[in-house]
Amino acid sequence: MTAAGLRLADVRKQFRLADGTTTTAIEDFSLDIEPGEFLVVVGPSGCGKTTVLNILAGLETASAGRVEMSGRAIAGPGAERGVMFQDYALFPWLTVLGNVEFGLRHGPAGAALTASARAARVRAVIDLVGLKGAEGKYPHQLSGGMRQRVALARLMANEPAVLLMDEPLAALDAQTRTILQEELLRIWGQDGPRERRRTVVFITHAIDEAVFLADRVAVMSAHPGRLKATIAVDLPRPRNDATRAEPRFNELVQRIWGLIREEAYRATVT
Ligand SMILES: Nc1ncnc2c1ncn2[C@@H]1O[C@H](COP(=O)(O)OP(=O)(O)OP(=O)(O)O)[C@@H](O)[C@H]1O
Ligand SMILES: [Mg+2]
Repeated sequence: MTAAGLRLADVRKQFRLADGTTTTAIEDFSLDIEPGEFLVVVGPSGCGKTTVLNILAGLETASAGRVEMSGRAIAGPGAERGVMFQDYALFPWLTVLGNVEFGLRHGPAGAALTASARAARVRAVIDLVGLKGAEGKYPHQLSGGMRQRVALARLMANEPAVLLMDEPLAALDAQTRTILQEELLRIWGQDGPRERRRTVVFITHAIDEAVFLADRVAVMSAHPGRLKATIAVDLPRPRNDATRAEPRFNELVQRIWGLIREEAYRATVT
């Protein structure tokens, strides 16, 4: 696995509405994401966060501008970019094991693997996300946190260079969420060398979550969605519960909230 850099340059995205008019979801959006960087995007509801992620995933096409991975234009979805959403999107008729191995069995990432190499990789990612012992369970038998662990294992099984995550923890209760934030950093490799880490683009509404996770937080403004600021999070890694108690942590949270509160307020009244 080699980490990949991402580039959005002067990106605009317009959608055509049912009445024939168009709406501009994002405009003048330029951002370079370093290989191995954990970038978190925050901004008010409807500002275009998901649109940015979908463009990077290749699920949407930019109306203007350039979108690249490792210097090459992104033309569509690819196994080197894994996507994870808020809803677990697990197959209810498959066990944990079945869900995790599904992509490897049927997708391009597993095509070159022998059956035993595939099984070994599935075992390794199930271990990695803490699901050992739950392999035979079905999604309805799992808590929300466990289901997102399955979704994460399925994502990691493909060994993507880039993880694109759209509010993956938003549906979870606060305690589970706090635990999975740290788990996610562990799985990403915050304890290991920088060059072993994947590139992550992570969307959240929770500013404390953004600061806890990110190397850098991209703050968006709304209508049309633009990049308002990027804030480097200079908190040391590995991060853990003690991180949340550091004065610098709260300083950063306050600073980012200051950048979006006016727009977030507007988003609640329009
Ligand atoms: N397929 C579409 N057709 C028309 N308009 C769309 C489409 N997808 C998104 N939009 C519009 O583009 C804008 C940005 O939407 P997007 O979902 O990217 O925002 P978001 O920041 O992810 O919002 P949220 O915080 O609610 O998840 C919104 O005004 C939305 O209504
Ligand atoms: Mg969204």
